Amino acid sequence: MHSHPAGYTRAQIVLHWVIAALVIFQLVFGEDIVPAFRAYRQGTEPQADALLNANIHVYVGLAVLVLAILRVALRIRYGAPDLPADESIVLQYIAKLAHIVLYAAIFLMPLTGALAWYLGMGEIGELHEIGKPVLIVVVALHAVGALWQHFVVKTDVLRRMLKPMA
Ligand code: HEM
Ligand code: HEM
Repeated sequence: MHSHPAGYTRAQIVLHWVIAALVIFQLVFGEDIVPAFRAYRQGTEPQADALLNANIHVYVGLAVLVLAILRVALRIRYGAPDLPADESIVLQYIAKLAHIVLYAAIFLMPLTGALAWYLGMGEIGELHEIGKPVLIVVVALHAVGALWQHFVVKTDVLRRMLKPMA
């Protein structure tokens, strides 16, 4: 077993950054699906451009789900490095909690979105919308934490998510 490796593999790193880019894209442009979703819920056909915008959101989001499955498989196979041991236990818990929320989000956002979109489940769509502010806060915290580790505490936490272990 490789549960406490020295770093991440190249595939894990590529997946981290591709998923991060797609999730941030979804957060920035997520509202583009709303007009088409609203049209369907009112029993009307969306405009062609509204439907195109909606499809971009749907397929980028489903891509996140596929990549998330791959990512967890690699996590199980290769594990992840320990957090810096000399870091305060409180910060370690906050970092781990953020990771758990982020892992949950890359599954739950596509799943709740798909239930809303394909089955017309409006209440689930509202849960999906709550994901937006939650994710913005957690992603910001996670990114600030990574930059803080790199520039202030000067650990290798950010470097090991950029450079595969030897
Ligand atoms: C990583 C994945 C995803 C993220 C981060 C994400 C994010 C978002 C955001 C930020 C909004 C706008 C919320 C608002 O206007 O307040 C939204 C709306 C929506 N998304 Fe997603 N989304 C993801 C995946 C998906 C997928 C895969 C689908 C469908 C298969 C989907 C369907 C929808 C629908 C139907 C809405 C409109 C909900 C409503 O107006 O009630 N999303 N999403
Ligand atoms: C926007 C979506 C993002 C998601 C969903 C996400 C998700 C995650 C998750 C789940 C982990 C834990 C990996 C593991 O150990 O199994 C992780 C680690 C990491 N993330 Fe992100 N992340 C995102 C954005 C970012 C951004 C913007 C940065 C940097 C500014 C960043 C920097 C890092 C670093 C440095 C690690 C490695 C931590 C360590 O080695 O202990 N992430 N990310």
